[in-house]
Amino acid sequence: MATKSTLRAINIGLTDSEREGVINLLNVALSDGYLLLIKTKKYHWDVVGPQFLTLHQLWEEQYQMLSESIDEYAERVRMLGGYPVGTAAGFLQYTTLTEDAGDILSATDMVARLVADHEQIIRNLRSAVDQCSDDFHDEGTTDFLTGKMEAHEAMAWMLRSFIEGEAVKPNGQIPSANAVAIPAGV
Ligand SMILES: [Fe+2]
Repeated sequence: MATKSTLRAINIGLTDSEREGVINLLNVALSDGYLLLIKTKKYHWDVVGPQFLTLHQLWEEQYQMLSESIDEYAERVRMLGGYPVGTAAGFLQYTTLTEDAGDILSATDMVARLVADHEQIIRNLRSAVDQCSDDFHDEGTTDFLTGKMEAHEAMAWMLRSFIEGEAVKPNGQIPSANAVAIPAGV
């Protein structure tokens, strides 16, 4: 949590307490991004099976995207006069995700865990967007976090499609209670 002693004096129309609130949200998002970055890289290394090459390459691409995203969170904290979390202990303190050290998973389970983490980050960011706008009046960060949420929605969709694909029957039916019937010929 940013404190008065670490908050630089800048005059951009936000109170110190508004900036502290926003910086805290950004540091949580930065830490969640860092944990997800580590998990994505670990699965890039560990994955085996028929989908090896596709997932190995996809996770390298998503690792690069997450790396850029983390950099942008940290630099936005600096733009607001604060300091980003930058230690492993700090990331573990701020993150809302959990690590799964020691588990060697099937490719499907790796995908499922990453989907769950992306979805948690999306829920967190949706709430952070509302808080940034309603409580802290920081429309710049509101816009920034909205873009981040959309990027995670895209990454989650790409991953989710692997799992959904395995569940689709040859006749195109999706065996799920939540599945919506697809009209014939559409
Ligand atoms: Fe690699």
